[in-house]
Amino acid sequence: MDFSEVVSRRRMVRSYRPDPVADEVVDRILDTARRAPSAGFAQPHRFVVVTDAAARRRVADACGEPAALARGLAPWLSVAPVHVVPCVAIADYEARYAAPDKEASRGPSGWDVPYWWVDGGAALMMLLLATIDEGLAAGFLDVPAADLRRAADVPDHWTPLGLVTIGHAADDTAVGSARRRPRRSLDEVVHRPDR
Ligand SMILES: Cc1cc2nc3c(=O)[nH]c(=O)nc-3n(C[C@H](O)[C@H](O)[C@H](O)COP(=O)(O)O)c2cc1C
Repeated sequence: MDFSEVVSRRRMVRSYRPDPVADEVVDRILDTARRAPSAGFAQPHRFVVVTDAAARRRVADACGEPAALARGLAPWLSVAPVHVVPCVAIADYEARYAAPDKEASRGPSGWDVPYWWVDGGAALMMLLLATIDEGLAAGFLDVPAADLRRAADVPDHWTPLGLVTIGHAADDTAVGSARRRPRRSLDEVVHRPDR
């Protein structure tokens, strides 16, 4: 698939078939995601992967699926065959920016922009696009970190960013915000101070 097709096909999918995804496919997706850029090449990216059905059910329960079903939504989390929790190891920045080649580029009060959120977002995007490139679909759910940490057994020093579901799309008619709201125009999002 060429890059523009991957990008144009990507949308958050909330409805999956239960068919499993082969481990080697999941590994390829994660291998791409770990190539995301990171400040100072701190490489803070970490991934918790859950594929066992009972374990996914625990994640789904902790992430509010029962309440969503009660509101009439179709099952999402428990059906998707792969859960990935992208995480960042924030302590990696302390270690990296204490190194002789980096200590000067850290301001006195730390980082104006917390790079772990930037780098975590970059890895999330790589994860989503790599999934599309495999002919699969992905979705993202923001979940309170404490709930996700407990349900997905996230290691103590990793900070979870949310829950990514991966699998075969059942349909992409599930209504998300993107279907209800127009995309901002290029003019609205670009500022050119030299024109
Ligand atoms: C940080 C972040 C949090 C999101 N949280 C949720 C969520 O909790 N539930 C959900 O269904 N979609 C969630 N989404 C998906 C967005 O609603 C979706 O990306 C947006 O509507 C644009 O649609 P598209 O990605 O399909 O183009 C989230 C996306 C991001 C980037």
